[in-house]
Amino acid sequence: MTSQLTSPFPAIRETRPGAEWWRTAVIYQIYPRSFADASGDGIGDLPGVTAHLDDLVALGVDAVWLSPFYRSPQNDHGYDVADYRDVDPLFGTLADFDDLLTEAHTRGIRVVVDLVPNHTSSEHPWFQAALAAAPGSPERARYLFRDGKGEHGELPPNNWESVFGGDGWTRVTEADGTPGQWYLHLFDATQPDLDWANPEVQEEFRSILRFWLDRGVDGFRVDVAHGLVKTDGLPDHLPPVDAEATEASLHESPYWGQEGVHDVYRDWHEILAEYDGDRALCGEAWAPTVDKTALFVRPDEMQQTFNFPYLLTAWDATALREVISESLRAYPAVGAPATWVLSNHDVIRHASRLALPQSERHDDGLGPDSPVLPDTVVGLRRARAATTLMLALPGSAYLYQGEELGLPEVADLPDEVRQDPNWFRTGGERYGRDGCRVPIPWTAEAPAFGFNDTGASWLPQPAEWAQFARDTQENDPDSTLWLYRTLLATRREHGLGQGAIQWLDGYPTDVIAVRNGDVTVVVNLGSEPVALPPGTLVVASEPIHDDTLPADTAAWLLAD
Ligand code: NOJ
Repeated sequence: MTSQLTSPFPAIRETRPGAEWWRTAVIYQIYPRSFADASGDGIGDLPGVTAHLDDLVALGVDAVWLSPFYRSPQNDHGYDVADYRDVDPLFGTLADFDDLLTEAHTRGIRVVVDLVPNHTSSEHPWFQAALAAAPGSPERARYLFRDGKGEHGELPPNNWESVFGGDGWTRVTEADGTPGQWYLHLFDATQPDLDWANPEVQEEFRSILRFWLDRGVDGFRVDVAHGLVKTDGLPDHLPPVDAEATEASLHESPYWGQEGVHDVYRDWHEILAEYDGDRALCGEAWAPTVDKTALFVRPDEMQQTFNFPYLLTAWDATALREVISESLRAYPAVGAPATWVLSNHDVIRHASRLALPQSERHDDGLGPDSPVLPDTVVGLRRARAATTLMLALPGSAYLYQGEELGLPEVADLPDEVRQDPNWFRTGGERYGRDGCRVPIPWTAEAPAFGFNDTGASWLPQPAEWAQFARDTQENDPDSTLWLYRTLLATRREHGLGQGAIQWLDGYPTDVIAVRNGDVTVVVNLGSEPVALPPGTLVVASEPIHDDTLPADTAAWLLAD
């Protein structure tokens, strides 16, 4: 196997972070099917992304992460990959991808792609071969096929459940027409889990990494990074997963966070190190504590991991202080940057989530029968304050497309348009994630709000989204778009990503006050206004009058 050590793409612009760019980068997540649709078929695509790169330069981000655009039947919108080395015609071609990469690099924007190693699509040639082959064959050994329990093998091999609801196992019909073995799928039945103990699986993913590294990508976001390796013998999950399971117990299982996953990332670390240009791995590793997520970023493993404990923290000053302190202790302790994230394509958008009681599940979504629906005015206000805090913190931050417009979760999608497997596999008990995936608005007075020029949209956009359209916000200095632009420019100018924080005393308990370099950040999570410290106001999440910081507001000040 050959690997190309020099990138054929133009040099990254000097003004962007250089060596180890991922330590401080602000990385913008693009969910391609909902970003911009150049073909006009109602589903976003890669040429749509390329056409809007200048908007991302204007926003001020350092990198983009593209959710999967590979060949896929789209049962989980691309997280079910049928060919890891090609672009799905829905999204364009490999040439479109190369074009996007060149254009992004020309603008100084790094490109991170999604890698889905835990499972393939059931339409992947390997799985099709496994179905056609006999039990015990090398084709089946790439996946986790097992005989069922019970007299006739009619019961699943163990009690593992699918993350999307229902059984984690599906029984196949053998070539002779008889009911046969079962295969494991921790997600949808169309997403069979690979067997990472199999050297052929390991070798295939080394080759897939090289395929994209050779094309010039700057890194990978690794899907289900905590789930690849399963406990030998696939024992039952005890105590059984049930409605009472706590967040922590859901993570203590024979399939999450096994020691063996770290060997995979040590191996991949070596592969990335063969390439120039500081390529990086970011793990989607859900774990109950910051310390557990930090295991993925030890010096010889990944460069970054998502800080999901931060995302899951309530709008509560004490809880936030704690998770920020923990993060700034645990990640640097292993030589890694802290990362920060508030929204992505799997959770209720933070402009809605922060106005919900903490007890609501972050990935159940929202719909007409949700027990509580958020007050979107309160939600947006808190989201703007939360982002103002997040972007002041040292390390790397992730933004999810549309949050710079202040988009809320769409809570009133009609049942018949829902597409998330969560919705189908729970019989409608969980609304799922469609509400954070609605195509984003670019232009108020255009078909599909400028998502394309035909008006088609794979999920309907709420009529009131004209107010969130980028062009509406462009002319409003108080808009969320301008808030994000100002925060990002100031963060860069004052080197906040490289900084360190110092907690400031003398404020009420429900106020967070920190200094990062020459910037003082004050966030009021209480209900009463508080006096701002002396200094020049640089940016605030709401208009400031009389030197007081209103409730649910954050401000950055420079010492006079
Ligand atoms: C995590 C991805 O972010 C999510 O969208 C997907 O459904 C699961 N992994 C399964 O791949």
